[in-house]
Amino acid sequence: MSLPPCYQPPDDEPSDPSRRTFMIGSAAATAGLFVAPLLGDAAVNEAAAKNATDPNAISVALNVNSKVHQLSLDPRTTLLDALREHLDLNGAKKGCDQGACGACTVLVDGRRINSCLTLAVMNVGKKIVTIEGLTAEGKLHPIQAAFIRNDGFQCGYCTSGQVCSAFAVIKEGHAHSDDEIRECMSGNVCRWRCYIGIVQAIREARDASI
Ligand code: FES
Repeated sequence: MSLPPCYQPPDDEPSDPSRRTFMIGSAAATAGLFVAPLLGDAAVNEAAAKNATDPNAISVALNVNSKVHQLSLDPRTTLLDALREHLDLNGAKKGCDQGACGACTVLVDGRRINSCLTLAVMNVGKKIVTIEGLTAEGKLHPIQAAFIRNDGFQCGYCTSGQVCSAFAVIKEGHAHSDDEIRECMSGNVCRWRCYIGIVQAIREARDASI
């Protein structure tokens, strides 16, 4: 299967499942190299209490939505679980938990990724933006408003991932045509097939030059 032109494999993407397995195992061994406290006393240990009884927990500093969070995590914790279970950022959804649906899409250093496929410790020092970070002062981001105007959802479960991905598609310059939008959004699945509204919303947001 050929990859869409907008596909940008992350630097740390495993080339095959067995390598992913290896990386999960090796991450635990090497985590100590990456998770040294970055902010010293300035960082607040928000989740240490949650993992206080976990002998495998390590200290992990994550920059999420322009705020650094000092967490205590099992090194095998995915970024998705760190966001949802430790930071109470529930916008990113767990759908398939294996990289097939896109419901967990967030932005890392400006690139959209499936947060279920990356470990939290692999994102130390990177800028993570979730759907909660796209809003400013409680106002909808223009692309969120466009999704509402164009009925780009039904149940809404996939919508935060759709919006994050749509934001990146426009920023990448891959929203020139409906066909290109469809292809570059193909990693985000909508159970209710609201694709007509989604494409309309992205087209509208593109034309508004978000
Ligand atoms: Fe991550 Fe489906 S939950 S791709």
